[in-house]
Amino acid sequence: MKVLIVGSGGREHAIAWKVAQSPKVDKIYCAPGNAGIEEYAECVNIKAMEFERLAAFAKEKEIDLTVVGMDDPLVGGIVDVFEAQGLRVFGPRRNAAILEGSKAFSKDLMKKYGIPTAAYENFDDADAALAYLETAKFPIVLKADGLALGKGVLICETLEDAKAGVREIMTDKKFGEAGSRMVIEEFLTGREVSVLSFVDGKTIKPMTSAQDHKRAGDGDTGLNTGGMGTFSPSPFYTKEVDDFCRKYIYQPTVDAMAAEGREFKGIIFFGLMLTADGPRVLEYNARFGDPEAQVVLPRMKTDIVDVFEACIDGTLDQINMEFEDNAAVCVVLASDGYPVSYQKGFPISGLETFKDKDGYYVFHAGTAKNEKGIVTNGGRVLGVTAKGEDLKAARQNAYEAVKWIDFENKYYRNDIGKAIDEA
Ligand code: AMP
Ligand code: GLY
Repeated sequence: MKVLIVGSGGREHAIAWKVAQSPKVDKIYCAPGNAGIEEYAECVNIKAMEFERLAAFAKEKEIDLTVVGMDDPLVGGIVDVFEAQGLRVFGPRRNAAILEGSKAFSKDLMKKYGIPTAAYENFDDADAALAYLETAKFPIVLKADGLALGKGVLICETLEDAKAGVREIMTDKKFGEAGSRMVIEEFLTGREVSVLSFVDGKTIKPMTSAQDHKRAGDGDTGLNTGGMGTFSPSPFYTKEVDDFCRKYIYQPTVDAMAAEGREFKGIIFFGLMLTADGPRVLEYNARFGDPEAQVVLPRMKTDIVDVFEACIDGTLDQINMEFEDNAAVCVVLASDGYPVSYQKGFPISGLETFKDKDGYYVFHAGTAKNEKGIVTNGGRVLGVTAKGEDLKAARQNAYEAVKWIDFENKYYRNDIGKAIDEA
């Protein structure tokens, strides 16, 4: 089989690595890819939003399966373009990717179908939102409706902050058109957990759980980022929580989408808050998480190509999904200054150390290859993942492996997985 992967981050590197394990696969292409993905795939210089060029490429190379890693192309309808040309593609169509593409849509869906989530109101108009805040309880959460690189969520402690937030989102359009509508919702407290799942339109198979660390600094301080590290599984995601989520969240979401005529095939990523009153959905994503994929996929035993195909064919009920009974931790190595401003172009050393080490992985995010070798080329540069027999061992291994890599401006959090100690 020939597989095309669309995307260029650490998540797509993890997907490419996992696809490469499948005995069915002879050749992998990645568009646009990165310097690390090149180890498994031929990278082609077509951007993820160039749907027609991608489809033409897939036809020319007789690609058997295309896998889309990123949210923008999914929400923009890449799957519809591929399907219209008779190409096999893994991911939700545009009318289903709206589950991630519009927070107002997803909140209304949850309300209509009784899926547990924070209380909320949607607004199309800044004045109405400002008026609503006058009687609201604080802290309160403001969310731009559309995609905003994970940055469109503001947690406001005071009425003043919240009013400024509404103006930023709706009047100043800090997140662009994503802020033409917004959701204002109740602030929830508890442990956060991410559960990624495969969906074939009817059946849903959750993967193992994970937890992300979104803030830039140790102790969850500093700005929000795309994600500074992850661990899997979450010790807080108990059997009881899993049973509840399967019954009241996972299957009901898939059934709700089908009932709305928006059959969902692909990945649903549930961002959950485990509150004192039970699990609540914070958000849905329509793709693998980054860096969640970097801890979940190394633990997956099942051939991922079989699972992708079953999702497309509607036969996921016949797949026996298995994960290793161990743990993994991913520490993101970033450029100092991320997520604001940072220098790039520094040579990276130590990548070869990972080659012959079982259970250790280095997934490239922002890297490039030039005459100096592999150099830094982004805010999040690499994800260093290590497995271990349990979370503590995995964390120790990951922080050991972090030392193997060096580049100027290397920055990482020292407390990825610290929550494990409280379990
Ligand atoms: P989202 O993009 O919706 O996942 O939001 C980003 C982050 O904001 C989440 O991972 C949470 O840490 C936080 N967040 C979102 N919604 C809420 C909420 N209702 N209560 C508390 N924190 C929230
Ligand atoms: N790590 C969070 C996300 O991929 O949205």
